[in-house]
Order: sequence, then C-alpha cells, then structure tokens
Amino acid sequence: MEVRVFPDAYGAALYTATLVETTIRQLSSPVLGLATGGTMIPVYQHLVQFHRRGLRFEHVTTINLDEYIGLEPTDRHSYHAFMREHFFDHVDLPLDCRHIPSGATCDLTAACQAYDEILRAHPIDLQLLGIGVNGHIGFNEPADHLKPHTHVVELTEDTIRQNARFFDAEERVPTRAITMGLQSILFAKRIVLLAVGASKAQAVREAIIGDIRTTVPASLLQLHPQVTFVLDEAAAQQLP
Ligand code: PGA
Repeated sequence: MEVRVFPDAYGAALYTATLVETTIRQLSSPVLGLATGGTMIPVYQHLVQFHRRGLRFEHVTTINLDEYIGLEPTDRHSYHAFMREHFFDHVDLPLDCRHIPSGATCDLTAACQAYDEILRAHPIDLQLLGIGVNGHIGFNEPADHLKPHTHVVELTEDTIRQNARFFDAEERVPTRAITMGLQSILFAKRIVLLAVGASKAQAVREAIIGDIRTTVPASLLQLHPQVTFVLDEAAAQQLP
C-alpha cells in the first residue's frame, strides 16, 4: 500500500486526476471505476481541464460504483445526474461506454445481475474510491457480512446524514442504494482512494493501520496489492 499526503485538498485531487490521466495514456482501451461524492468533484474538474488540453476519452469505458434506489436517472440528485453534470457532459466519452447501476427499476435483482455482467466483461484498470466517515467504500456499509457482488444495501443513518447536504432535506435522501460489492472493487488492477478533510481522519486511520474488519469496509483494501491512499494533511492527521 502506498500513502501520499498533500498539503491541501487541491493537490490531492490534482494528483488523483494525473493518475487517471496516466492510466488513460498507457492503455489502448482503459476501464475506469468511477466514484461520486463531494471529494470527487475537483478530480472531475481537473479531468475536464485535461480534456480541454487534449486528453481524449474516446476509448475509455467507465463503470460507476453505485446509485440510489428510487431516483430516475433524470433526477438531479441521482448519481447519473452527478456524473453528467461534473464529467460526462464535458468530455468525449462515448455514451454506450458509461455504466452506472440502475436504481430506478422494479427488478433490482436483474439490475444487479446485469451490472455484474458488465463488470465481468470490463475488468477495471483503475478504481477511484472515496471513503465514508463510517469507513464505507461505494455504498458497502459497515456490517457483520459484506457482499462480494452488486447488491442492494440499506444506507446507514451516518451515510444518510452525510449525504443530506446534497438534498433539500434529510427525509429526501433515499434509504437504499445499489452498489458494486467488495469482490468487484478488489478485483480492480489498481485502486486509488482519495480522502480529504478532518472528518475522514478516523476512517482513514482505521482503513490504513487498523485491523481488517467488515465494520470498516475500507480496511479490506489492505488485502489489495496495488492500492494508493491520496490524502490531504487533515485526512492524514491521525496517521503515525
Ligand atoms: P464524499 O463521499 O466525497 O461526499 O465525502 C465519499 C463517500 O461517501 O464515499
């Protein structure tokens, strides 16, 4: 495991974006595992800037981690909308190469299976991750058991409270989501977890130097041979 600490969030996001750029330039048809959340917004801003200066996404495939259940892709709070607003609408990534779980279907079992098919067909070269204050990755919430494949998850109160800032009121945050599972995440060839801010410091510490346990899903990343934690000083403050 590699840990890179930057003086501020800007430097951490820029470094993360350059890792994505390097992957895209090195591979003929790169597959990126993408994340949503406030931490990722500056990463996408940098990638859009890189695109304006010549970085092409025409041979890239993207696979997002998760989506809320019950929100149409057109809903402005959906992760479909997040990705369009912050990234997809500004780059030349082909429409049929963008994958996000469908949270607006009545057959969630079929949606999970369909997503696992996509994952099987497109092994991820670089997986971007954020981390929840409770140590979640994707929407794999702390629990006694973690699921390997794409599944439906009940969001914890912590996560609902954290994500309320993107909604008009906490009651409007969906209580369920569809998320890639831990096996699919750990199957990525390389993983880059970006965390900034003091609110993430404890989760970061437990993920990096704590015991590996399902109640801190990010601690399972210690099992991966090529994972990089990209942090600002605030997120790194509880590390030795
Ligand atoms: P955030 O979310 O970037 O909005 O803090 C990260 C996450 O929950 O994975």
